[in-house]
Amino acid sequence: MCGIVAYVGDRTAFPILIKGLQRLEYRGYDSAGIALHNGTSHVYKCKGKVKDLENLVKDKDISGTVGMGHTRWATHGEPSDRNAHPHQSMKGKFSVVHNGIIENYTHLKKELSNRGYSFESDTDTEVLANLIENIYLEQNISAELAVRLALSRVVGAYGLVIYCEDEPGQLIAARKGSPLVIGVGNQEYFLASDATPIIEYTDQVMYLNDEEVAIITREKLELKSLSNDNLTPDVKKITLSIDHIDKNGYEHFMLKEIHEQPATITDTFRGRVAMDGSKIFLGGVLDVMPKLINAKRIIIVACGTSWHAGLVGEYLFEKYARIPVEVEYGSEFRYRHPIIFEDDLVIAISQSGETADTLAAIRKVKEAGATVLGICNVAGSTISRETDAGVYTHAGIEIGVASTKAFTSQITVLLMMAMLLGSKRKTLPQAEYSTLIHELISVPEKIEEILKEEEKIKKIASVYKDVSNALYMGRGLLYPVALEGALKLKEISYIHAEGYPAAEMKHGPIALIDENMPVFALAANDTSYEKMISNIQEVKARKGKVVAIVTRGDKSIRKMADHVIEIPECHEAVSPLLAVIPLQILSYHIAVMRGCNVDQPRNLAKSVTVE
Ligand code: AGP
Ligand code: GLU
Repeated sequence: MCGIVAYVGDRTAFPILIKGLQRLEYRGYDSAGIALHNGTSHVYKCKGKVKDLENLVKDKDISGTVGMGHTRWATHGEPSDRNAHPHQSMKGKFSVVHNGIIENYTHLKKELSNRGYSFESDTDTEVLANLIENIYLEQNISAELAVRLALSRVVGAYGLVIYCEDEPGQLIAARKGSPLVIGVGNQEYFLASDATPIIEYTDQVMYLNDEEVAIITREKLELKSLSNDNLTPDVKKITLSIDHIDKNGYEHFMLKEIHEQPATITDTFRGRVAMDGSKIFLGGVLDVMPKLINAKRIIIVACGTSWHAGLVGEYLFEKYARIPVEVEYGSEFRYRHPIIFEDDLVIAISQSGETADTLAAIRKVKEAGATVLGICNVAGSTISRETDAGVYTHAGIEIGVASTKAFTSQITVLLMMAMLLGSKRKTLPQAEYSTLIHELISVPEKIEEILKEEEKIKKIASVYKDVSNALYMGRGLLYPVALEGALKLKEISYIHAEGYPAAEMKHGPIALIDENMPVFALAANDTSYEKMISNIQEVKARKGKVVAIVTRGDKSIRKMADHVIEIPECHEAVSPLLAVIPLQILSYHIAVMRGCNVDQPRNLAKSVTVE
C-alpha cells in the first residue's frame, strides 16, 4: 500500500526516484509525486500513474541530488492532484511523504487552524507537515527535534520521509507501523517502502523499527529512538536480486507467478523434507517445538488470501495433529475480546509481513503471553521480526496484487507443520507421514501438467468472460479453495463472485441459480466426491452452468457439467495446491479478456498497511 522512495547522495535524484516509483507500482496507488531539492524545492504531483507524473515533469527543472517520491493510496481525501504527496508545510519549510494514517488529525488540524494555519489538501499528512513546521518555528529548534516532538503527539501509523529547507542535504525518516527500508551505498542512501527500488544500487539494507528516526546525509546515517536514545543501525545483506522483479517474458507478473508455482513450492519445501519421505525439518520453529507439541489450541490470524490458506491449515492441523484450530480475520480478532491462553499457539500468515490488521492481532496475542509463529514471504518484514519463531515461504517476491504463488507456498508450509506436529504428537502414523511427504514432493510435477492445459482453460474463460456473477463451491479442503477462486475473480476482473461450502448452497445461494449463473465446482476430493455430485445435480436442475474441477479420468461429472478441467490424481491433503491452479488461470484470462489491469487492479494495494 502506497510507496515511498527517497535518495540522498551525489547522483541526480530524479531517475532514481522515478524508477523506484515504477518498482513500487505493484503495491497499488492512485496518484504519484516527487519533490526535488537543489537549494530550492520543486514539487511535482498528480492523480494517476507514474507515467502521468513523467509527462508532467517534461520541460521542468528536475535537478537535485536529494529527493523523495510517493505513490499514494488515498485514505483521507479523494485521489486528486491536490491530495497527492509530497505535501509542503504552509510556510514552505518542510516537504513530507507519508504512508499510513494520522488518526488524531482532526484534533491537530483544529489546533493548527487556531494558530493561523490553513490547508490546501484534505489529507492527514498535510496536518503533520504543518505540525512539524509549527513546532520548529515556535521553538526554534532543529528539524530532527521538531519531527520527534511532533511525532510524539501523533496517534496512528506512519512511514515518513521529511525534508527541511533550512537543512539541505539531509533527509529525516521515521516509522511506526508502515515499513521503511534504507539502502546503504557508498556516500549515498536510498530509502523505500520495500527493497525493490534499492536492490539495483546496493545489497546493504537496514529496516527501520517502530518509533525509530533516521537522520541521513550523504556522509552519514544517524539512528535514534523517538525519545532521543542513540541506536546502532543494523545493516544486513539482502539476497533479493533484480531478476526476481522482471516479468521474464510473461505479459503480466500474475501470469509469471502462476507459472512459477512448481518452482516456488519446491523452494518452500527444499531442505525441509527428506526426499526419502522419512522426516520433515523446520529449522525456524526448533526453539519453540515443545510449545508447539503441547499446544492446546492453534489460532490462525490472517487476512484475504492468507486467511484462506489459514482455513486449509485448520483442516490439516485438526486432521493430522489433532489440535483444535480457530481461524480468525486479523481485523476482527484485534477488536474482539478474544480469550487467549498462554499455551495457545498463534500462527500469523502474511505474504507481505506488513498487513496492519494481522500485525495488530499479533501484538494483542503477545500481550497475553501466547507463542506466535509467523508464516511470511518477505524476509525481514515486520511480522517476521515480531513473531517468536516462524517459517519463511521462500516463494520469491510476489508483484501481482492478486496473490497466487504465495498462497500455494503458505499451504505447503502449513502442510509441513501439520505433518511434523502429527508425527511428534503420534497422531500421524509413520507410514502415512511418509506417504504425505512423497505426495508433497510430487506436487510441482503435477502442477506442471495443469499448466500445460492453459489453452484449454483459456477457452473456457472466453465462454464466461462476460458474466456479471459467479459462484464457487467446494467441500472440506476444497472449500477454502472455492473462497480463493471467488476472491481471485472479483479482485482482477471485477465480476461479483462468492465461494460457499457446497452444502450451504441449498440454505440460500441456490436461489441465485439460473441459466446465466456459472458455478465453479471443486469436485476433485475423494471423501466428498459423491456429495459434490449431488450438489452439481442441484445446480444443473436449476439450469445453472457448471465448470467442474475434477480428477483426471473422471467420467460421472463429465456427463453433467458444461465444462470440466482435470487435475492429476493426488492425495486429498495436497488437493488444494492443485485445484487452485485452474482457478487462478481462469481468473487471469477472464480479466485479460475484459481489458482489466491484472497486476494492479483498481482500488487494491499489495500490502495493506492501514487498518
Ligand atoms: C490477495 O489476492 C489479496 N490481494 C489480499 O487479500 C491479501 O491476501 C491480503 O491483503 C493479505 O495480505 P498479506 O498476505 O500480505 O498479509
Ligand atoms: N493518509 C495519507 C493520505 O491519505 C497517506 C496515504 C498513503 O498511505 O498513501 O494522503
